[in-house]
Amino acid sequence: MYASPLAGETSRIISNTARLRGEPRLPGDKSISHRALILAALAEGECAIVGAGDGRDVQATAGVVAALGATVERVRDDGLNVDYRVSSPGPDGLREPEGVLDCRNSGTSLRLLSGVLAGLPFLSVLDGDASLRSRPVARIIEPLRLMGAELHARRSDTLPPLVVIGRPRLRAVDFTTRVPSAQVKSAILLAGLRAEGRTTVREAVATRDHTERMLRSRGIEVRREPATNSGGGPVAWTLEGGARLRPVDERVPADPSAAAFWLVAGAVHPDAELTLRAVGVNPTRRAAIDFLVRMGARIEERPVGSSAAATASESGEPLADLTVRSSELAAIDLGPDEVAAAIDEIPVLCLAATQARGKTTIRGAGELRNKESDRIAGIAAGLRALGARVGVDGDDITIDGPTRLSGAPTQTLDDHRLAMTFAVAGLIASGSTSVDRADSAAVSYPGFFTELERLRA
Ligand code: S3P
Repeated sequence: MYASPLAGETSRIISNTARLRGEPRLPGDKSISHRALILAALAEGECAIVGAGDGRDVQATAGVVAALGATVERVRDDGLNVDYRVSSPGPDGLREPEGVLDCRNSGTSLRLLSGVLAGLPFLSVLDGDASLRSRPVARIIEPLRLMGAELHARRSDTLPPLVVIGRPRLRAVDFTTRVPSAQVKSAILLAGLRAEGRTTVREAVATRDHTERMLRSRGIEVRREPATNSGGGPVAWTLEGGARLRPVDERVPADPSAAAFWLVAGAVHPDAELTLRAVGVNPTRRAAIDFLVRMGARIEERPVGSSAAATASESGEPLADLTVRSSELAAIDLGPDEVAAAIDEIPVLCLAATQARGKTTIRGAGELRNKESDRIAGIAAGLRALGARVGVDGDDITIDGPTRLSGAPTQTLDDHRLAMTFAVAGLIASGSTSVDRADSAAVSYPGFFTELERLRA
């Protein structure tokens, strides 16, 4: 039986540092790690997952997959990443879980697994911590009901816990997502594997495409219209139900969302040079890198492998080594589509904006309120506490820079991305910055604070 370590509660003091140098170690991509575990459970046989991020979110997915009847072994872990061996009876051998499925803090676990459970003929209850219980689920209930599954949730079907009564055969749908969400798209595609006929998901803005790539590498034909493989713009994804997944080993790239903290740290610090190895630079995930470059960040990118088209993961994810050096930044204007493309990196990009010359505007960022915390409120309060000039008007954020930040207490709202953003701010703020409940970083990046201490040593 799979057991995950328990979380503690800590706060951290980060003091200003004169110099930042080194190669921070990164966790395996969180999105890909979740999917590797879920797809392993859907493929009959055994597969290895090498270098999965060992954050609490991915551990939650491992726990759920085990509760459904797959055997999940941790064959090696170094405190940051873990290698798994998963052996599964395949979808028809998965069984009704005996207890509630605990997704902890992880929206990705809850939403992707709902799509799987919709096509399994038993009852499951998905639940999590207080933060997860405040995150919207109507967005997955609607399409999965249309496909024939029965779902119920608290507060008139809007909030977890979520009950899923699956059906062995679902109806295919042609569904347009109401918010740009890779989690919703993935839930529908995963349910589509168990549907009769062709399932299509349309999105106004292309979101991360890891599910689609990983399904393809496991033998499922997933078509994209238009066919070009880049981020942005409207797109439709199609697959035929009924095909079986092959068990495939997966080597997980380093997480670009985790890398973003160090890219900002290196760019805003006056004496920095940091190198990040083998980072996933999938076109649907790399927007934060491109926005930083647009702001003037000195980021050097070297593809990993022998050519610019080199890919090092089984699912064809492009990888690159990135070096960032101290930079003079200028303000940027990001619209709603660009926000969607960098949804997890907006908090740390806001920190970058406090050091950029001019007024940064981030428009249409409402989805940030539906994350592990209300990230618009959280980032504005934390950066203001440090002396930044941040305005919030509805779902729009403005930041006037540059500002010399002064160390102060910051509140993470138990949100990993806010904890890491305020810790990076502490490296450049004068004096000391305290980050409350800093252990929330381990949701996606265990060892983040160890790396931070190493880089300034
Ligand atoms: C994720 C998709 C994003 C992102 C989350 C991971 C994924 O959520 O915020 O951290 O792995 O599919 P949405 O798709 O709901 O925006």
